[in-house]
Amino acid sequence: MSNIAKSAPGKIILFGEHAVVYGQPAIAVPVTQVQAKAIVRPDIKTKPGTIHIAAPQIDLNSPLADLPLDDALAQAVALTLEYLEIDKPPAFKLKISSTIPLAAGLGSGAAVSVAVIRAVGEFLGHVLDDETVNNMVYEVEKLHHGTPSGIDNTVVTYAQPVYFVRGQTIEIFSVPQSFTIVIGDTGVVSPTSITVGDVRSGWEAEPEKYDLLFDSIGELSQKARQAIELGETDVLGPLMDANHAHLVEMGVSSPELDNLVEAAWEAGALGAKLSGGGRGGNMIALVRPEDADRIAQALIDSGATNTIITRVS
Ligand code: MEV
Repeated sequence: MSNIAKSAPGKIILFGEHAVVYGQPAIAVPVTQVQAKAIVRPDIKTKPGTIHIAAPQIDLNSPLADLPLDDALAQAVALTLEYLEIDKPPAFKLKISSTIPLAAGLGSGAAVSVAVIRAVGEFLGHVLDDETVNNMVYEVEKLHHGTPSGIDNTVVTYAQPVYFVRGQTIEIFSVPQSFTIVIGDTGVVSPTSITVGDVRSGWEAEPEKYDLLFDSIGELSQKARQAIELGETDVLGPLMDANHAHLVEMGVSSPELDNLVEAAWEAGALGAKLSGGGRGGNMIALVRPEDADRIAQALIDSGATNTIITRVS
């Protein structure tokens, strides 16, 4: 039995976050510049059934059996064993590392789960198909944020652009004319569970206002998909700006996000918005390729702790 290593990319939501939880379409794409990685090594000197997990970045170094049952990593391993109907696997050590910032809207939780499930499955002799992995990761995502739409696990598992409507068949779509996005990190940690919960409270308190916002965001996602498929990517900028304005109204932006969005506009971005759960984490800006470095620098000058330039293709 040899070592198995699996990785999964990060993601950004181009359009439709939060509204997607309420049945509206959303568009997400993978970000391959950042990755989560899981390595499984056999532990031949130890008795079967013993699993050790190490994730140095979060100071975790522990037997799996000592982790709380609702721990996301423990869940990812347990679901894989359950699916494969393996009670006592050969002893192994699982090591996790990631370059995807935590709680920053880039899908770090989903990516770690995908990498872990694939690596453990393959170590036990099974190459799990995308649908199976996706379903398992969705179960783990429920621990991260209660009522996930399923978009994060889907885009990270399939590692392709997705047009996602909760409960419907996954649509992977083509991007005939690639476009450039600059991602800017506010450096503010913001768990998705909190913003998703706050939007729910807002919706319960003012259902009409929120339903209108969700509907308008759904229309933006539809228009954006059309524009992407027709290769009319310039149209995407104003759609992004409109999406950001709706997210501000929904209360999930923050001074730090708005500041970076404005900095991107001032530096010549074609459009900009927060991406993911909001209140912190990352924003995205659509840029002309030749402006990408300059706009990334403008974001850093305005307080971004990190930037990534990615091409959606
Ligand atoms: C988080 O990446 C996207 C949200 O819409 C939550 C979800 O869809 O589960 C905020």
